[in-house]
Amino acid sequence: MTVEEPTYDLGVVRYFAIATIVWGIVGMGVGLLLAGQLAWPALNFDIAYLSYGRLRPLHTNAVIFAFGGSALMASAFYVVQRTCHTPLLSRGLAWFVFWGWQLVILSAAITLPLGITTSKEYAELEWPIDILITLVWVAFAISFFGTIAKRKVEHIYVANWFFGALIIGVAILHIFNSLALPVSMTKSYSIYSGSVDAMVQWWYGHNAVGFFLTAGFLGIMYYFVPKQAGRPIYSYRLSIVHFWALIAIYVWAGPHHLHYTSLPDWAQSLGMAMSLVLLAPSWGGMINGIMTLSGAWDKLRTDPIIKFLIVSISFYGMSTFEGPMMSIKTINALSHNTDWTIGHVHSGALGWVAMVTMGAMYHLIPILFGRKAGEMYSVKLINLHFWLATLGTVIYIASMWVNGLLQGLMWRATSIDGTLTYSFAEAVEASYPGYYARFIGGAIFFIGMCVMAFNVYMTTQGKTRDETVSPSTPMLEPATAGGA
Ligand code: HEM
Ligand code: HEM
Repeated sequence: MTVEEPTYDLGVVRYFAIATIVWGIVGMGVGLLLAGQLAWPALNFDIAYLSYGRLRPLHTNAVIFAFGGSALMASAFYVVQRTCHTPLLSRGLAWFVFWGWQLVILSAAITLPLGITTSKEYAELEWPIDILITLVWVAFAISFFGTIAKRKVEHIYVANWFFGALIIGVAILHIFNSLALPVSMTKSYSIYSGSVDAMVQWWYGHNAVGFFLTAGFLGIMYYFVPKQAGRPIYSYRLSIVHFWALIAIYVWAGPHHLHYTSLPDWAQSLGMAMSLVLLAPSWGGMINGIMTLSGAWDKLRTDPIIKFLIVSISFYGMSTFEGPMMSIKTINALSHNTDWTIGHVHSGALGWVAMVTMGAMYHLIPILFGRKAGEMYSVKLINLHFWLATLGTVIYIASMWVNGLLQGLMWRATSIDGTLTYSFAEAVEASYPGYYARFIGGAIFFIGMCVMAFNVYMTTQGKTRDETVSPSTPMLEPATAGGA
């Protein structure tokens, strides 16, 4: 069956794709500077704007919302058009989303180094920017769901379910967590206080992971893995079951961030139980992604884009096994506040979020710039990037796991007379080798990002250096191809 291709709106997708790479370099560059400051504190140069406390939220906002957000918007706008066989609802609205989102990022890049912050993690931006985020997000929702409403095929492909969950989930989280009383243009106070404030904040924080860093990127996985592998999804039924299970369970798991606090004990235990259950739908997604390659495993040898995608799904599996383990109260007593958490975060962030994004972007860039699928400037450089990203991630997370265990064990060690065996400063001193190693891992990952930027730039200039990625077996859009 052939389906006639309409003309799609690719301009805004192209801009978001380039923004993904630019913000990736900026955000990870700031991360590298932070990793450097933890190893060599003098790297803050005694300048308030470059101090650790101000740059850390700049890093998290830049990598999650600027890099991750641009990748999600590029993919959602591309996938919804291709799988619904229709251009976007409104080109003007889509451009408003692009420029509005860039304005949010610019405002964050100015206010955070100035020390203007709500101090709520991952929701640091002050109220005028929060209002702008809401407007842009509503425009994103109208563009996306409006395009689905005018689709030319009956079926709504599963990737769109995940993008839809991202849009609705983040809207609810952002609005409720950001409710605040403004006292000036740059200062507001949350309407919540005490342990209610903590609960709302971590309901938001955990679901930012669940809906932004997980559901949205699973949408990317569900489109780009079948596309690049040239095969239908392993099981369509499994995708629906794990979608609903993931959505239903994620929202209850937030209290695992508040173990041993003044939050009622029953709420902490509920958060722990729900986190353990979360392993099942998470692994449902992982299995569905990896098994999509069954029958085409040889592509793991020949196609570096598939390598990025499959390794990212493996890291997704690892971090969603580790997370439930860390939510067990006795294990959290050891891991909380240590570098173990930082290792867990980056196994999800570098291994899963960044690597699945890179796979998707390498698939998209040639198509967006009018070249044949797979026709990047250099496939050898994609391969080099893959190895740099994998090596960088492994060094980063392994060093943080060692540091985390070391810190947790040193903090709790007691001598025979009941006094602490080690002072806090001794634990910091023991962490230094891990900080040097993390800087090296981060630098390798960052160099990989620069290689990608060069490869993308040369591709946009119409240049070709070596062979193209062997084109996927020609296939219809997943929506029409169906699945098991
Ligand atoms: C070159 C790459 C990167 C480097 C060198 C890096 C480095 C760092 C450093 C040094 C910290 C502070 C750790 C601490 O306070 O002890 C941090 C925190 C964080 N980074 Fe990265 N990062 C990188 C990429 C990313 C990416 C791509 C993401 C997300 C997609 C990410 C998400 C985060 C988050 C969420 C935190 C806060 C963790 C927490 O509060 O527990 N990072 N990063
Ligand atoms: C089944 C899935 C997951 C569960 C149950 C889970 C559980 C946890 C737990 C227990 C913590 C430590 C809380 C603490 O001691 O303060 C944590 C921290 C964190 N996790 Fe996960 N995790 C999961 C998946 C992921 C994934 C896939 C990512 C990233 C893409 C991620 C990102 C984070 C971040 C950013 C933090 C640090 C939050 C902060 O303190 O700033 N998690 N997670």
